[in-house]
Amino acid sequence: MCGIAGAVGLKDISNVLFDGIRNLEYRGYDSCGVALMNGKGIVVKKNVGGVGDVYQKENILRHTSHMGIAHTRWATHGQVTRNNTHPFLSCDNNFAVIHNGIISNHLELKNRLQKEGHRFLSDTDTEVIPHLLENAYKKTGNVEASLLQTLKQLEGTFAMAFISNYEPDQLYCAKRESPLLLGIGDEVKFIGSDFNAFIDHTKNAVIIDDDEYAILSKDSYIVKNFVTREEVNKPITRMEWDSETSKKGGYPHYMLKEIYEQPQTVLNAMEVEEKTIDGLVSMIHKSKNAQLVGVGTTYYVTMYANYIFSSLAGRYIPAISSDEFVSLSPVSKDSFVLAASQSGETYDTIAALKHAKAKGAKTGAIVNVMGSTLSRMVDCPVLQGSGPEICVISTKAALAQMILLTRTALKLGVKNKSLTQKKYDGYMESLKSLPGIIESILNERSGFIHRIAHKHRNVKHWLYLGRGMYYPIALESALKMKEVAYVHAEGMPCGFLKHGTLAMIDSDINSIVFVPPSSEKVLYESTLASVAEIRARDGYVLGIHFDEGNRTQDLYSEELILPPVPPVIAPLIQMVIAQLFAYFTATSLKRNVDKPRSLAKSVTVG
Ligand code: F6R
Repeated sequence: MCGIAGAVGLKDISNVLFDGIRNLEYRGYDSCGVALMNGKGIVVKKNVGGVGDVYQKENILRHTSHMGIAHTRWATHGQVTRNNTHPFLSCDNNFAVIHNGIISNHLELKNRLQKEGHRFLSDTDTEVIPHLLENAYKKTGNVEASLLQTLKQLEGTFAMAFISNYEPDQLYCAKRESPLLLGIGDEVKFIGSDFNAFIDHTKNAVIIDDDEYAILSKDSYIVKNFVTREEVNKPITRMEWDSETSKKGGYPHYMLKEIYEQPQTVLNAMEVEEKTIDGLVSMIHKSKNAQLVGVGTTYYVTMYANYIFSSLAGRYIPAISSDEFVSLSPVSKDSFVLAASQSGETYDTIAALKHAKAKGAKTGAIVNVMGSTLSRMVDCPVLQGSGPEICVISTKAALAQMILLTRTALKLGVKNKSLTQKKYDGYMESLKSLPGIIESILNERSGFIHRIAHKHRNVKHWLYLGRGMYYPIALESALKMKEVAYVHAEGMPCGFLKHGTLAMIDSDINSIVFVPPSSEKVLYESTLASVAEIRARDGYVLGIHFDEGNRTQDLYSEELILPPVPPVIAPLIQMVIAQLFAYFTATSLKRNVDKPRSLAKSVTVG
């Protein structure tokens, strides 16, 4: 879950690589480095810190070069140190390598290489690769053959790239399970762990599949399979995102920009073609046993969908966290497993779907990144069209997934006759009103949310409470608070309070309660009963509700009153409020909002 960039063919490669890995910083950002080919051989510059810092510290832009590779790291094997930063060199300095993924047999390989006299400078798994290349070159005298010999010895997952003094105009890369793309310009070629690595230079990409490697030079590229050794004819995919949509556009953080983009994200999700939704509906309808998977935020998205499918389509479709799927799911050839994933590269979700496929299940995925591993491995891919989500924290992508899953549930409801066409039309009208409502709420309420968040910035513990479909909203909102503000927040169903948690209520713990519209009588009243339980113990409650002026007593300690909205969109609006609340708490605490600690955008390791 690091970022890889590489380029061959331009005079100012260090600059190009700077943009490339800076655009990839969301994948990992504790250290970074480059290897550049200059007239005299390979120059490696690397250090700990973000891309901007390291470029400055190491004065990297001073180095001119026509070819190079770069890497931004999120530590998995070995501490965050300069020595553990990619690229890594072979002992003879003739190969420089960068790598994403995990070489699972690295200890065994390292032992053997050390016995043969190779000197290791890092604790990483990656460093075995340049030494293996060096060994192989001594035997074969050929760079491509050395790559093939090396790949044969590697177990685990990799997207790797290297440059070599033996072929100073050729860039090599190979992939198994970790994402890798080529960018095809006229007189320049790129590599990247995703499209952002070369978004500023070309929209033409070639998606490298598992067991493939590529050799790139200024004017040409070739892709081959390293198992069959045959050349593979790869189509060029045109990526529609441009670098402008990837930039901050005047917002102080991507997180805020992406929260404010949600009206558009919802519109895009509403525009996903009917026939695509019908494809999912028919898969679910035909299957005896449908299941939902996701992890982190996308698990909460699927939990939300679990409620939506039950209430709108009368169909119980359990949500299982991807990392638990293999242990828990009774998946079989009668199953349909539908995943949600922003990146489409999350290891746990891919592993869950691989397991499902191996058992003969049909699979589907709602993903945001075109050409991602998940989008290519499932029977029924749905591209959510939310545009690049750069902030590590997921906001707009999650909301779009909820919209698409709601649309699917509504259509399923009509198909299995638990919803009339009239009701379906009514719900669709409500969904269509969501962008306008989010827009006005963001414009009118963000000042208030900012003030409340700032006032409570030093609160150490929050309980996030909701009932029914507001429960996954509470879980997701608590996760936002934890991951961006590093403040303890626990999501919980309101009903749990009186089974133990009420004992925690005192002046050190604040609660946020997601209150449904009063038209949802049963949910509404039972939620208010929980509010009363907390208030009776002098607990603080921030109520987020839709009760404009129709209440007499002072129920909450503080309240955020929203305009009345249709129940089907009410939880989604509250989720947007909670995103802003987490954002403003994080900015008040001076957190690194777009790159919070210990989280990477696509978690491609298990
Ligand atoms: C939270 C967050 C993570 C991701 C999770 C799955 O804001 O971003 O919890 O939701 O790592 O990622 P995707 O959706 O890319 O599969």
